[in-house]
This record gives sequence, C-alpha cells and structure tokens, in this order.
Amino acid sequence: MNMITFQDGKNFDLVGLLSLFQQSSWAGDRTLEDTQDMVKHTNVFITAWDGGQLVGCGRVLTDYVYRASIWDVIVDKPYQGQDIGTGIINTILSHSTLQRVDLFWLCTRDNQAFYETLGFSAKEQIGMVWDRTRQKPSSH
Ligand SMILES: CC(C)(COP(=O)(O)OP(=O)(O)OC[C@H]1O[C@@H](n2cnc3c(N)ncnc32)[C@H](O)[C@@H]1OP(=O)(O)O)[C@@H](O)C(=O)NCCC(=O)NCCS
Repeated sequence: MNMITFQDGKNFDLVGLLSLFQQSSWAGDRTLEDTQDMVKHTNVFITAWDGGQLVGCGRVLTDYVYRASIWDVIVDKPYQGQDIGTGIINTILSHSTLQRVDLFWLCTRDNQAFYETLGFSAKEQIGMVWDRTRQKPSSH
C-alpha cells in the first residue's frame, strides 16, 4: 500500500475535488466556480493524497471557539477501508486552530457506525434543515 499523506490547506487543483464530489450522494452537481467560492470561505480544508492524486477530503466551518461543523467527508471508493476517513477526521479534531471548539457537528445518513468509532454520538438527533430547493415558491 502506498503512503497516504494528509494536507491542511486549499492550494490544490479543484478538478480532483469535483471528481471526489461526484462520488457523493449530495455534491455531484457542484460547479467549478461555486466550488472555488466554497473553498475560499471554508475555515479548515483537509485533503488526503496518494502521491499527486487526491483520494479524500473533509472540511470545517467554525467560529473557532464554541462550534464547528464538518462537511463533505469523502474517500475515493478504491481507497475506502484504509483508515483515510479516520485520518481526515482525526486531523480535524486535533487541528491546532480548533482546540477551543467544544462541539463538532456533522450530518450523516449511512455512516453513523464509522463516526461512532471516532467518538461521535447519534443520540442527540435534534437537527433541523432549511433546504432552499424545497421551499414553496414565494407568492410575490
Ligand atoms: C464514510 C467514509 C468517509 C469512511 O472513510 P474510510 O476511509 O473508508 O473509513 P476508515 O477506513 O477510516 O474506517 C474506519 C472504521 O470505520 C468503519 N467504517 C467505514 N465506513 C463505514 C460505514 N459506512 N459503516 C460502518 N463502518 C464503517 C471501518 O470498517 C473501520 O473500522 P475498523 O477500523 O474496525 O475496520 C467513506 O467510506 C466514504 O467516503 N463514503 C462515501 C461518502 C460518504 O458517505 N461520506 C460521509 C458523509 S458525512
């Protein structure tokens, strides 16, 4: 198995990121332009690399004090089951700029068992979502 390295930063080609997104059930239709803006405004962006190939990602939005949310955790299919997802989450949780944060939040439909191995709890399912695409058209 090749050495996987984890990078903290945004200085990489977004084409590989878009192909990772295409493997997810939620981010497959993101455009390059919107993804550029999204990366620019993301607080912490972690990527996993096999040499020059992007094989995993995860990102954080945060106030650096009380709250952080984790989004878009994806590992390239052939690389799943090799602790890369674990490495991405641990890199986030141990990140030097996030040590004051007392609560990390994430949403997952099918991977509760994965996150439970990392200390996340699904007991407090108190989230609600406002989805722009599901709102009724405005009457004016
Ligand atoms: C979920 C995901 C990020 C996990 O990454 P990964 O690199 O495959 O996970 P790891 O190899 O670090 O797995 C760590 C442990 O969790 C387990 N695990 C991984 N995915 C799991 C899942 N979906 N359900 C249950 N257990 C899982 C592994 O078996 C492993 O346990 P072990 O150490 O006892 O063998 C990855 O499978 C993925 O990208 N899935 C598709 C995208 C997705 O749904 N992302 C989550 C959105 S929030």
